[in-house]
Amino acid sequence: MITQENFENTKNLLKIHDQCHLLAFWPELNPTQKQTLLTQIEQLDWAQIDYWVENLVKKTTTPALPDGLAPASFYDAEPADTEQQRKYAQALNLGKELISAGKVAAFVVAGGQGTRLGFDGPKGDFRISPVNDKTLFQLFAETIAAVSKTYQTLCPWYIMTSSLNHAETREIFRSNDYYGLDEKYVFIFEQGTLPNFGLDGKILLADKANIARSPDGHGGSLKALYRSGALEDMKKRGVELLSYFQVDNPLINIFDPLFIGLHALDQAEMSSKAVIKTGPKEKVGNFCLVDGSLTVIEYSDLPDHLAEKRNADGSLTFQLGSIAIHIISTSFVERLNAKGFSLPLHKAVKKIPHIDQHGNPVEPTEPNGIKLETFVFDAVPLASKSIILQTLRSQEFAPTKNATGVDSVETSRQMMVARAADWLESASVPIRKKPDGSPDCLIEIAPSFALQKEDVKAKLDQIPKIKPGDKIYLA
Ligand code: UD1
Repeated sequence: MITQENFENTKNLLKIHDQCHLLAFWPELNPTQKQTLLTQIEQLDWAQIDYWVENLVKKTTTPALPDGLAPASFYDAEPADTEQQRKYAQALNLGKELISAGKVAAFVVAGGQGTRLGFDGPKGDFRISPVNDKTLFQLFAETIAAVSKTYQTLCPWYIMTSSLNHAETREIFRSNDYYGLDEKYVFIFEQGTLPNFGLDGKILLADKANIARSPDGHGGSLKALYRSGALEDMKKRGVELLSYFQVDNPLINIFDPLFIGLHALDQAEMSSKAVIKTGPKEKVGNFCLVDGSLTVIEYSDLPDHLAEKRNADGSLTFQLGSIAIHIISTSFVERLNAKGFSLPLHKAVKKIPHIDQHGNPVEPTEPNGIKLETFVFDAVPLASKSIILQTLRSQEFAPTKNATGVDSVETSRQMMVARAADWLESASVPIRKKPDGSPDCLIEIAPSFALQKEDVKAKLDQIPKIKPGDKIYLA
C-alpha cells in the first residue's frame, strides 16, 4: 500500500539526489505500476548513487593504475623440478579425493546473451560442437555426467543467469530434460542488476513505471550465490569448492584434479588458471602484482608501455592472461558476504533504450548511456591466498565470443577438432593433416568417451580408421 508519507519520502529522497524525473509520469500510473516504481526506487543503493554519478558516470578520465606493477608468479603447466613433481602428484591425489567426496561443484556464469555471435538467446544454448552440433550447455552437462560416473559421485551444477535470460534458461533445461542430469543437482539462479544512467548522470527510465537496469556483471555472482540460497544449498550438500567458468568456453576442463588439489594444498581462497598471452594486446585480463597483492587488470586498462614490456629473453613481462577459470572456496564467498563487501564498479558506455522526458521511446543508434558492472576477478585481491596455474590454451581455452575472426565460432570449433586430434595422436592414432597443419577431417570426442588425453588409450578398440574428409564422433 502506498501512503502519502511513503510517496513524500520518496520524492524528498529523489530531490536530495537530483533524480526527481523518476516520478515524472506518476499521475499517469495505475496503483500497481506506482507500487512497482516506488519499490524499485527504494531498492536502489542511495548511499552510493551520488558517488557513482560523480566518479564513474560523469568522469571521462580513467583512474590511473598504481605505480610499480610487477608480474605475478605461477605454477607451470608441468612441474619445474622434482620437488614440484612431488607436490603436483600430491595435489592430483587430493583433487581426486575432493571430487570423489562430492566436495566440488561446477559453477558457470551464464548471464550473458549471444549478441556478439548474432544469436538471439542465452549463449549456453548456442550450438558449437563440430560434428554433433551440441550446445554449450549440453557439452557442460555431459562433462559433469562423465565426471560423476568416473568419480562415482554426483557433482552438483550451479548456473547463474540474469534478468535477460533467466526464464528462457530454465525452460531450455526443462525442455531438454536437464540433459540427462538429475534435476535436483542443477541449481539455476539469477544475478542482480544495477540501474542505467544517461551521460548526464540521470537514472534512465525503461518505461513510465520501470527503471532501466542491466545485469551487475559476473562479479555479481559472489553476492547472488549468497542471496539466492545457492550457498546454503552447497552447505547442505557438503560442497566446499566451486569450479567457476564462463559459458563461452567449450574446452573447459570443469573438474581438474590438479588445479583443485593445488588450491586446497595451498589453502587458497580463490585461484585462477592462466595462459601465456598470444601477444601484448590479447583481449584477456592480465595477472599483476599491485603492492604485492595479486590483481587482474583488464586488457583495456593495461597501458601500452606495460603491455609491450619484455623480459631479457624476449617474453612479455606481463605474459599471464586470465581465462576466467577459477576455484573459489565456498567459505570465501561466505566470509565476504557475512561482513559485507563490494567490488569496484566498471563503466561501459552503451546504447541503452529508454524513454525521454516526454515519455517517448528512444532507440539509440549511438552509445547514449552508462552501464555499471562488477568483475569476479576483482575478488582475487580480497582472498587471503590465491594461486595461479598455467595451462595450455590448446587444451582448455577456446572462447566463442564473435561470429567471425578472433575468438569466434569458427576458431572455437577448429580448436575443438584440433584438441580431439591431439588426444587421438597421443594414443598413436594417425590423423592426416592439411598443409596448414590442421586435421584433414572433423572429429568430436564426447565427454563420455574421454575427459582427458589419457582416457583415449583405453578405448583404442572403439576408434575407427580415420580417413581424410571423415566426420568422426566418438562417444
Ligand atoms: C572476459 C574477461 C576477460 C577474460 C575473458 C576470457 C571481463 C570483463 N573480461 O571477457 O578478462 O580474459 O573473458 O574469455 O569479464 N556474464 C554474466 N553476467 C554478466 C556479465 C557476464 O554471467 O552480467 C558472463 C557471460 O555469460 C560470460 C562471462 O560472464 O560467460 C564473460 O562475459 P563477457 O562479457 O563475454 O566477457 P569478455 O569481455 O568477453
